[in-house]
Amino acid sequence: MKVRTPTQKQVLARQELATLLVSDSTRFDVDEAVKDGAKRCKRTGDLKTSRRAASLFHRPAGARGEPKRLGFVGLGDAKNLDTETLRRAAAVAQQQAERVGVDLFEVLCCADELKAVEAFDAGAAIAEGLLLGAYRYQPPRKEKPKKRSAQTAVVRLFDGKQGADWRKAFERGLKFGSIGGEATIFARDIENMAGNHATPSRLADEAKGFAGTNLKVKILEEKDMEKLGMYSLLGVSRGSVQPAKLILMDYAPRGYKKTVCVVGKGLTFDSGGISIKPSGKMDEMRYDMCGGGAVLGLFHAIAAGALKDVGPKTRIVGIVPSSENMPDADAQKPGDVVTAMDGTTIEVLNTDAEGRLILADALAYAVKNYEPDSIVDLATLTGAVVVALGHEVAGVMGNDDEHIEDLIDAGDAADEPNWQLPLWPAHRDQMKSNFADLKNIQSPAHGNGTIAGAAFLSYFVGDTTWAHIDIAGTAWGGRAKDYYRSGAAGTAVRMLLRWCRGLS
Ligand code: BES
Ligand code: ZN
Ligand code: ZN
Repeated sequence: MKVRTPTQKQVLARQELATLLVSDSTRFDVDEAVKDGAKRCKRTGDLKTSRRAASLFHRPAGARGEPKRLGFVGLGDAKNLDTETLRRAAAVAQQQAERVGVDLFEVLCCADELKAVEAFDAGAAIAEGLLLGAYRYQPPRKEKPKKRSAQTAVVRLFDGKQGADWRKAFERGLKFGSIGGEATIFARDIENMAGNHATPSRLADEAKGFAGTNLKVKILEEKDMEKLGMYSLLGVSRGSVQPAKLILMDYAPRGYKKTVCVVGKGLTFDSGGISIKPSGKMDEMRYDMCGGGAVLGLFHAIAAGALKDVGPKTRIVGIVPSSENMPDADAQKPGDVVTAMDGTTIEVLNTDAEGRLILADALAYAVKNYEPDSIVDLATLTGAVVVALGHEVAGVMGNDDEHIEDLIDAGDAADEPNWQLPLWPAHRDQMKSNFADLKNIQSPAHGNGTIAGAAFLSYFVGDTTWAHIDIAGTAWGGRAKDYYRSGAAGTAVRMLLRWCRGLS
């Protein structure tokens, strides 16, 4: 699926299908070839303009240049239009085109009807909806799937009273949304992959694929981590035959003034280790790398030029600690004490609380190596966040409210909401151990499982501005919403991209 703006060559796009995004107050202010036909469809009484309502009209051969079919997808009340409605409407338009079976179609909309949304945001939401609406994971099968329609959507905007600047911003949004949509698809693909396929080495190989663009990619191997004293991360990996990797992706634009680190948990399969998980749903623990998936998705987009047009520039470093968590004769045991690279000793009371152990070294490495102005980490860290917040909103905690606000704003702009949970000294105290500096789980009597995970991580960032986003609820299992069906959501790629664009 590709999203394009009209070019001379693409007048053909509308011959098979033209789909109008229409609000309740539509006046069909679109070009002549479609306008009259649209008005005729309206007169039939079958054309619905409520949110996501799709209608399709097959046209008898009409005036020259009229499309064979006219599709309509409703936006509801234009005054209350928002990006989520647009993203969903675009996904519905794509699915309608797929049902019709066309490879090339046109999406038409009028700026006057979209103006409740910023032009850039409207373009981005439409492109994201079109791309993500087309997404289906292609599992490895003996029989190759029948022809996947390689669709192209040509998005034609009529600027109406909004003028050329609105259109320019809209088209920049379309480009940004295409890059973000493709990056989200890339993330969904590796996240959905089986645990034996998407190993730490595979994640590292995917990252290496970005090298040579505007990014530098470096992989730290286990022997490098040993030299650095990353025994918190290596302790998790001990029980697995798959070598752990620390994936580093560095976008350092010339003249950058600030540095941020984006860290993602890349646990490619979490069996729980010696504190083994129950077997029901254990297969879902292949998704335990979705924090890493989000960071890889972000860099997929950066490599494709998502930040080309923004300034002032910020250096963005992506860090994905990646490992399996398996039980084995050599696996770490409950009660073992390990030492992280910053010297902190950790009593591993539960080997299933492993995400925080691999993140501890990744965060300490980020602080020491890059001295960043801020850090954000994303992790499928706790089942508790699903109990607290469910699948539609992620939990965010940290040591700086302004940083957290910025992330929440970016999430809202992407329609990937985050909700702040407290992280107070009392929570940090819960993580102190009698047998080491810290223990990796709090006493069950405390409850607050999600906050405890964040409290543990907070020890490894020192005074650095930092936030932690627990995406265990949002990474998969959310309700279907036109641009998401099931499986991995490619969560947080859109949010991170918006946050990175807003950095200054
Ligand atoms: N990867 C899991 C968290 C998880 C569980 C995500 C279920 C999504 C669904 C994490 O490594 C884990 O096992 N956490 C434990 C922590 C506990 C031992 C303190 C959990 O949530 O049960
Ligand atoms: Zn675990
Ligand atoms: Zn885990």
